[in-house]
Amino acid sequence: MSLFDQMPGLADFATTAHWLSLRGWSEGAGGNMSVRLEHPFDARPGEEIDLPVHVPHLAGMSIMFTGSGTRARETALHPARDIGVYQIGADGKSYAWLAGNQKPTIELPAHCAIHNALAKHRPEDRAIMHTHPANLIALCHDPKLGDGAKISDTILRLQSEALLHLPEGIGYVPHQFPGSLDLGLASAKLVDRHRLVLWHMHGCLATGKDLATAFDYMEYFEKCAGIYWALRAAGINPVGMSDEDIKKTLIHFGQLDRYRP
Ligand code: 13P
Ligand code: ZN
Repeated sequence: MSLFDQMPGLADFATTAHWLSLRGWSEGAGGNMSVRLEHPFDARPGEEIDLPVHVPHLAGMSIMFTGSGTRARETALHPARDIGVYQIGADGKSYAWLAGNQKPTIELPAHCAIHNALAKHRPEDRAIMHTHPANLIALCHDPKLGDGAKISDTILRLQSEALLHLPEGIGYVPHQFPGSLDLGLASAKLVDRHRLVLWHMHGCLATGKDLATAFDYMEYFEKCAGIYWALRAAGINPVGMSDEDIKKTLIHFGQLDRYRP
């Protein structure tokens, strides 16, 4: 057994991958995850590879990424095979492999840009999870919804606890190519405020202190989206909680200052 096989962080990846698979959110090799480690991982770095984005807030850090093409249903069983740990260069302009899987997700530029923003604005949030939940992607197809503000306002009022978990609402990135730096840069701009970012007709990205917590946020949003589609399928126009009830609830739980409709 290597040092990497015994890393405690692998369990969070394995459990989350298991649930991504059970939920049917990560079809095939869809989706990817990463976690910034609190302490550098001790291993001799491989070749330095240039990053497409400068990430000064990640300089010298070790980050775990799922491998490109890995399946959540298999990562749950073989985390040390499917996950790799990498070190960001001291100048924040390169990365190098340290241990485990050696082919990081194609969304590495996005994960790096987003981690850089998190390290600056929400350093306690170390985990990023991207996946493809059908009810969320379907929201991007609804001409009644449109941008993130409208989606947040319509969807998060459909269950009385959703806004307590996500009072800042959902960020939204219009179409960008999967794996592109533009997708990452647009998302990075939103994560100082939003725990979730919906990628137009692609999937959703969640952040949290660990992957299990990021998964929770995704579940709250997906639950509301499921309610939305159930109501629409029944011919009911989803109206949800009144503004007054939302305000009273947020005041009761001390969350009003985080709410920006
Ligand atoms: P990877 O298998 O390279 O992580 O790509 C999956 C994906 O969902 C890209 O957005
Ligand atoms: Zn994807």
